[in-house]
Amino acid sequence: MSRVVVVGSGAREHALAWGLSQSAQVVVTPGNAGIAAHGITCVRTPPEDLDADLFVIGPEQPLVEGLADRLRAQGKVVVGPGYDGARLEGSKAFMKEFLDVAGVPTARFGVFSGEAEAIAFLATMEAPYVVKTDGLAAGKGVLVTDDFNEACADVRDKLSGAAFGDAGTTVIVEEGLDGEECSLLVLCDGATAVPLAPAQDFKRVGEADQGANTGGMGAYAPMLAMTPEHVERVMREIVAPTLKELAKRGIDFRGVLYAGVMLTSKGPKLLEYNVRFGDPETEVLVPLYGGSLFDLLVRVGEGRLEATPAPTKDFAVTVVLASHGYPQNPRSGDLISGLGVDGQLAEPVEGVTIFHAGSKRNENGSFVTVGGRVLAVTGVGPTMALARERAYQGAALVTFEGRVMRTDIALAVV
Ligand code: AMP
Ligand code: GLY
Repeated sequence: MSRVVVVGSGAREHALAWGLSQSAQVVVTPGNAGIAAHGITCVRTPPEDLDADLFVIGPEQPLVEGLADRLRAQGKVVVGPGYDGARLEGSKAFMKEFLDVAGVPTARFGVFSGEAEAIAFLATMEAPYVVKTDGLAAGKGVLVTDDFNEACADVRDKLSGAAFGDAGTTVIVEEGLDGEECSLLVLCDGATAVPLAPAQDFKRVGEADQGANTGGMGAYAPMLAMTPEHVERVMREIVAPTLKELAKRGIDFRGVLYAGVMLTSKGPKLLEYNVRFGDPETEVLVPLYGGSLFDLLVRVGEGRLEATPAPTKDFAVTVVLASHGYPQNPRSGDLISGLGVDGQLAEPVEGVTIFHAGSKRNENGSFVTVGGRVLAVTGVGPTMALARERAYQGAALVTFEGRVMRTDIALAVV
């Protein structure tokens, strides 16, 4: 049997490992307690010291630090771009300038490290105001507000390093875009690009998209509002010029180019690129994928991707359960009830899988929270309504003190 190493420790890596384990032998480094409980081997060995037919790198941080380059230098087959391609996510300033050169439609923007210039530019924009940190901030470095003074205060906080340290000392101020947001994860093998099913994620912590931006509180797929015509347009107007510019710069991008797209009245515009699988989008896309995930991903790594649409079946909804105080001050150590020894529902619900992100076992072997997003509860079914019902049925059975959960994931599409 083929061997795969998955790098990372969240619910995204749990979903990838679970999907891959249906046709390969999987090791996750470092993984987490819930992945191990699910019967998937977790080790603490650095990926460079492991041997496998395929390496799949989950999070952005190791990609930005060049892990894919180090593995490829050892002759390994890797899903994930090298340092050069990962800069599309590692620096928003780099990304925006890249988009400009490539001619990709995106929000009008300016890049600043001085407060006065940033605020002068803000004053030329209309609400909503958008202020972003340049570097990685786990999805939390973006402010969208109608309040000019709040936007100015945010510029000051970010530039002073108070909000995000070095990641924040350059800011991007950009035009606010209006419309439906879609995550289109596109597999790229260096030459060919194939989109997965369009997904929608829910970035705000509160119901009806109120409150702070988070890593993501839930997702569903396929997103039917993103029609095949929209997908085709994004591939033509956004992804194709990006691949062309990557090739021009000699960047061999093998991995996931995740396009965060706003469907505006003037057509799709790119909000951002990520260079990896989305979290929690992966927790709906993997269970929906009809084929062998190993075969698909090994083709990405080896540069043998075929331009056939990825098969999908059914509908999937995932609901994130986060710890008390998330995202500002997440608490750890709350006892989780409702899980069996395998980390899945003690009372199973048809079509439901639990993917663990921030859980560990205490001295009695029970699962407890370790801050941030704790679990993603995914429901799959033949309709969106049934997928959603199952996800929430599952979520209702898993409780812990101070649990943060949105009740409106996929509500508008059933
Ligand atoms: P980003 O990390 O750049 O995707 O931003 C996080 C979230 O902020 C996005 O998913 C959007 O919901 C919102 N956002 C980012 N940029 C804009 C924009 N220019 N206009 C409106 N909302 C935005
Ligand atoms: N779901 C947002 C992200 O993965 O960045």
